[in-house]
Amino acid sequence: MASMASKTSFFLISFLLHLIITPEIAQSTSNPKAILFQTSKDESSKLHLTTILQKNPPAEIKVLVDLGAQTLWLDCQNSYNSSSYKHVQCNSTECAVAEPNACGDGCQGNELPRCIPDTCYNHPANPIIDTSFDGGRVSEDELNFQSTNGSNPGNFVTVPKFIFTCVPSFLAAGLPIGAIGIAGFGRTNISLTTQLARTFNLPTKFGVCLSSSPNSKGVIIIGDGPYYMLPNIDVTSNLIFTPLIVNPNGGSSTHSVSKAEYFITVKSIEVNGKKVEISKKLFSINKNGDGGTKINTYSPYTVLEPTIYKALTDAFATEMTNITNRVPSIAPFGFCFNASGIASTRVGPAVPTIDLILEDKALWRIFGANSMVQVSENVMCLGFVGKGAGRISLRASIDIGTHQLEDNLLQFDVGGSRLGFSSSLLFRQTTCANFNFKSIIA
Ligand SMILES: *[C@@H]1O[C@H](CO)[C@@H](O)[C@H](O)[C@H]1NC(C)=O
Ligand SMILES: *[C@@H]1O[C@H](CO)[C@@H](O)[C@H](O)[C@H]1NC(C)=O
Ligand SMILES: *[C@@H]1O[C@H](CO)[C@@H](O)[C@H](O)[C@H]1NC(C)=O
Ligand SMILES: *[C@@H]1O[C@H](CO)[C@@H](O)[C@H](O)[C@H]1NC(C)=O
Ligand SMILES: *[C@@H]1O[C@H](CO)[C@@H](O)[C@H](O)[C@H]1NC(C)=O
Ligand SMILES: *[C@@H]1O[C@H](CO)[C@@H](O)[C@H](O)[C@H]1NC(C)=O
Repeated sequence: MASMASKTSFFLISFLLHLIITPEIAQSTSNPKAILFQTSKDESSKLHLTTILQKNPPAEIKVLVDLGAQTLWLDCQNSYNSSSYKHVQCNSTECAVAEPNACGDGCQGNELPRCIPDTCYNHPANPIIDTSFDGGRVSEDELNFQSTNGSNPGNFVTVPKFIFTCVPSFLAAGLPIGAIGIAGFGRTNISLTTQLARTFNLPTKFGVCLSSSPNSKGVIIIGDGPYYMLPNIDVTSNLIFTPLIVNPNGGSSTHSVSKAEYFITVKSIEVNGKKVEISKKLFSINKNGDGGTKINTYSPYTVLEPTIYKALTDAFATEMTNITNRVPSIAPFGFCFNASGIASTRVGPAVPTIDLILEDKALWRIFGANSMVQVSENVMCLGFVGKGAGRISLRASIDIGTHQLEDNLLQFDVGGSRLGFSSSLLFRQTTCANFNFKSIIA
């Protein structure tokens, strides 16, 4: 791991240099250019959390990042407590945009305050425990957000009536420790993306750059680029684009396949440039909304339909045979090998590349840093899992998870219906942990 250490010190030195030479400049307060969310990787679940800034009284609230989810929802039974909290009345425009499913007396769950008449309910979901709840209380509160100019954090800005959903504690079960809800960035009228873009007149676009390390923060930025990572690298230059598609047969935004989620079209998969034999029909979405390729942040590893999983693992194993020895698998992985002889490169262990060939001839190349998981000192495993190894209800054929997204910038241009992606930023001598968090306050 010597090369890792020298890489770290390189970044550290550039970071320190940057601190020394960056002048302190005040920022004006008009509509922000973009909104910044800091993300952190939870060591145990390997999923990513972000922080919501409660205004009254000021508090940081941790939530799980869920790219395709409907809305922000919080456990209001045991955790969320704000003096500016208001419920949303049934007969209101706020209720109408929140995909309501009922009106009620507010006594359905145990969330606080108890029993408020004329409550608008919607239907939030927790993908980790695969549970949804039809009595989510649509609510609003004054929240703070941090602005950014794309390279540094800026002033805090307030949204006076941010719409979110209050749920009883049971729905927050299974979330990473410390998280009391879910931050949804999906294609709905009440997601963080849409509400913030609407409030601050930003394009409906967001960038996701998740750090691979639990010790350093990544970012999600709502609004247009360019976005910069130290040392002053525009990670939005040289993006590759592919159409972002809506699941035509997805259900409402709380179903396990929904129209709120982000799908892309994979046309074939190659390992070391050789095509993997996969039934074509798995790449498309069928009449039930199953199949196709989704990008999610609730599974730590990409989950594959069983025949794709077997074909990919076999192809990878064939390409690896001359390199090293296979060792017994370690759950949830199905292909592990002795890593002691594997060279290390700038983009991770020197293993066969995995390419997703996408619509519009776009090629998403997955290098060792995103394909391999180091499970012990000498053992590495292919970081993909078959359906059934983890959650069984995943319904896309290829459900791309966070290990394959880390240290890659993905820009979801929801308005323009396209996904821009960078492939591994390690090639560009930066990482998603290199956002310049040094805040320059007026
Ligand atoms: C963002 O703001 C910081 C501090 O004001 C400034 O140093 C930096 O150059 C700005 N970056 C961009 C891309 O405007
Ligand atoms: C909510 O916070 C207020 C102070 O901000 C406190 O007085 C009250 O007891 C809290 N309620 C709960 C249920 O924790
Ligand atoms: C609902 O809102 C409409 C329009 O604002 C109003 O005319 C109507 O009386 C309201 N109904 C109730 C039950 O509050
Ligand atoms: C979201 O808002 C748009 C435009 O205001 C509207 O056409 C659409 O029906 C809304 N979608 C939902 C799910 O409410
Ligand atoms: C492995 O080595 C053998 C013998 O050198 C060669 O014939 C074969 O093509 C190699 N396989 C791969 C996948 O490189
Ligand atoms: C891996 O290979 C090294 C060197 O050949 C050997 O010492 C070690 O025991 C092997 N480890 C495993 C887990 O197979």
